[in-house]
Formats: sequence, C-alpha cells, structure tokens
Amino acid sequence: MILVRGGLPWSWKAHECLLCPMQTMMCESSLVRCLQLLVSLLMVVRLQGKVTAPERMEAPVELPFTLSCMVSKGRGDILKQVRWLDVQNKTLLTYEPSQKDSVSGQQHVELAPSPKDTSAITIRRVGFRDEGCYTCIFDLYPSGSQEGRTCLTVTSRVTAEGNKTAVSGKAAVLSCSYGLPEKVQQVLWRHTAEQGDSSGVASYAKRSDPMIEPPYQERAWLTPSLSHSQLSIRPVSIQDEGCYTCEYHTYPERTKSATVCLTVFVLPKPQVSYKNTSPGVIEANCTAVSRPPVEIVWNAERDNRTMGPPVTSQLQQGDGTTLVISTLTVQSGLLKDVSVKCLVHHKGLESPIAVSMNTKIGTALTILISVTTVAALLVICLCFCLWKCFLRKEDDGV
Ligand SMILES: *[C@@H]1O[C@H](CO)[C@@H](O)[C@H](O)[C@H]1NC(C)=O
Ligand SMILES: *[C@@H]1O[C@H](CO)[C@@H](O)[C@H](O)[C@H]1NC(C)=O
Ligand SMILES: *[C@@H]1O[C@H](CO)[C@@H](O)[C@H](O)[C@H]1NC(C)=O
Ligand SMILES: *[C@@H]1O[C@H](CO)[C@@H](O)[C@H](O)[C@H]1NC(C)=O
Repeated sequence: MILVRGGLPWSWKAHECLLCPMQTMMCESSLVRCLQLLVSLLMVVRLQGKVTAPERMEAPVELPFTLSCMVSKGRGDILKQVRWLDVQNKTLLTYEPSQKDSVSGQQHVELAPSPKDTSAITIRRVGFRDEGCYTCIFDLYPSGSQEGRTCLTVTSRVTAEGNKTAVSGKAAVLSCSYGLPEKVQQVLWRHTAEQGDSSGVASYAKRSDPMIEPPYQERAWLTPSLSHSQLSIRPVSIQDEGCYTCEYHTYPERTKSATVCLTVFVLPKPQVSYKNTSPGVIEANCTAVSRPPVEIVWNAERDNRTMGPPVTSQLQQGDGTTLVISTLTVQSGLLKDVSVKCLVHHKGLESPIAVSMNTKIGTALTILISVTTVAALLVICLCFCLWKCFLRKEDDGV
C-alpha cells in the first residue's frame, strides 16, 4: 500500500536500469529503495499524525505554568477531542476543540489560548505535587489517537532579605526562604568574616532539632523549618559582622543558597567637656565612641564669636570602635547668649543626638530642683491636712 501511495516512478527507473551495466544497476536499485523507504516513512508519519511536546521543562513553584503539545494531523484527519493526563495518569482536562463549552477537568488547571493544532493548559499555581510527566492525547478521526509527553521539574530559588544592620548587644535576625521544603534535606547557615574565614553557625535537618555550633551556643537560635529559615543572634557583637550564607541542601538537585550581610553598629553616647584655656576663651570637646565613626557638628560653628572652625580627630579603638573628638574654641561671651550644642550624627540613629555644653544643664538642674521642692511642699501640706482631719474626728468621737 505504501509503495503505491508514496512510490517513486518505479517503472521508469527500472526501465532505465535495463540499459546499465550490472553493477550500476544494483547500486542504483538500492539507492532507489533507500529513497522509497525514506519517502514512505515520511508518508506514514504524515498519515498517522504526530505529537510534539517539549520533553522536559522547569516550572517555578507558586507561579502559573503552561504546558503545550502540538499535533501535526494526517491528511483528512479531524481532531475530535484532546485529553490531558496528570502525573498519576488521571484525567486532568478534556475538551472538544469544535465545542467551546466542552472543557471539563480538575480545578487547578485551565485551558490556555493556543494556536490551531496546539493544545495548552495552565496549572494555576505550581506546587511540589505537580512534578512529573504529563500526557496529552489527541483523538484524531479517522487515524486514531496520538499522544505526547512532557515532564515537569518544579523549581524554586532561595531568597534572602536584604543586608541587615544590628546594634551591638541587641538582637540580629537573618532569614532566608525556599519554596520547596519537600526537597530539602538540611538547612545550614555559614558565617564568612571580612577576612574570608568561613565557619558553620547552625543547621537544621529533617526530623531533628536545630544544631548550634559551640561558638554560638546560648546566643544563636534557628527556626526548625526547611522553608522559612530564621537565624537569630542575641546579643550580637562586632565579631558577628560579615556575610551569612543560608544553604539549602536539596535532593535530587544541588545545594542552593543565598547570602545576607550583617553590619553591627555601636551607638554613640556623646559627651561634652570644656575648660578655659586663656582668659575669655573656652575650649570645648565633644567626644563619642561608636561604630562606624560619628560625624560631629556644632550649632555655633557659624557664630562670629567662635575662634575658627572645629577641629576633628579620630582614634581607632582596639575593639573595632572609633573615638571621635571635635574641638571648638569660643569666646566665653558666647556661652552667655547661646546654648552651645554639639550635634552627633550616626547611621544607627534616626535623628542626631544634641549635647548642650553649658546653660542647658544649669536650667535642667534648676527645673529639677524647683519641681522637687514644690512636690515636697505639696506632700507636707497634704500630711498636715490629713493629720488635722484625723485629730478633729478623734476629738468629735470623744
Ligand atoms: C503513566 O503511563 C505511562 C505510560 O503511558 C507509564 O510509563 C507511567 O509509569 C504511568 N504513570 C503512573 C503514575 O502510573
Ligand atoms: C550586601 O552587602 C555586601 C557586602 O557588604 C555587598 O557586596 C552586597 O552588594 C550587598 N547587597 C545588597 C542587596 O545591598
Ligand atoms: C580636648 O581634647 C584634646 C585632644 O584629646 C585634649 O588635648 C584636650 O585637653 C581636651 N580638652 C578638654 C576641655 O577636654
Ligand atoms: C558678630 O555679628 C553680630 C551680628 O550677628 C554683630 O552685631 C557683631 O558686631 C559681630 N561681632 C564681631 C566681633 O564681629
């Protein structure tokens, strides 16, 4: 049948070959046979129809994903119905292309728009259970059914919150997440110091308790989760600064990780001191120890009674902090008119700290004394009144 349908002009070839020498004839006839076979194979494919579908695809978890299959129909074929089977070979969705309302199937998938002779379905939100091989079946008339297969691998990425800052002595909380906890065997946190040394901090493996490495014992905690992993360190110190990598050891894929870097601040507690260096001249120092170094400005810098701009010096302390001293020299007359303040700016502060040099402390003290005095007087009055009242009552009673 095939030969009849798809054959080359066989008789013509045979005719010609009668004139050839024996060898050429054999050669030619085998060539002809080859061609015939090729053509007939193409014909068979063409006649029976064929489904093409991507063999393997990666679908990110928690997002919609569209699968598609394309059929090349045989001559005269009509597409009656399309069926999709899920990873367990259960019917996922079926429809008849000629009828709009014929779609039926599971809730979590829908038919996606697609060109002619192509069928596409969308998984509304890909989950771990959607991993596996899907079958699309095209029921053709009259040639029969044709099927294609696409295998889906569900993937996820490790995401980390951005870089963090923490205040020395307080808590630092770092977190990472991975959307496919079913594939995770273990979550491991590593610390890489600025010098490049890397060491384990904590880990959590399936069906066990979180493990905290000795240097972090009693001051680090890890959530027992294979998806949302949170590492807390409290109290945090300058030595904890650096980058932290959360590694998700997944199976069968390789290890996936993300990195977040931690900066540790030491907040300043600024102080002001001053002394008379010569008659009518006062030298004031504003000092603060912090990490990173503070920036100090004075409110009276522009006043014409200051003797030049402030002089700033920095001293590195052994523990990673920096001492900043800003020295301003002023005429003592200035202090009588203005409350001279140093303003300390630091990245860890929402607003600068203002430290007043002179009068402010005096006024504060005055206010405190007056308030205390008034309160004491009130209490005495009250006691006196009560005492009076009781005396009266006792007198009445008697
Ligand atoms: C589904 O059917 C295919 C063959 O059509 C088979 O290879 C596969 O193992 C089946 N899957 C399940 C889960 O039964
Ligand atoms: C986090 O900090 C590291 C090192 O300080 C830097 O290389 C990286 O770009 C930072 N990442 C973000 C998102 O700011
Ligand atoms: C201010 O600081 C400088 C440098 O440390 C020091 O020499 C000076 O005595 C200080 N002055 C006051 C008033 O504390
Ligand atoms: C300083 O400036 C004030 C005005 O702001 C002016 O009245 C005063 O004379 C100035 N003093 C000196 C010493 O220049």
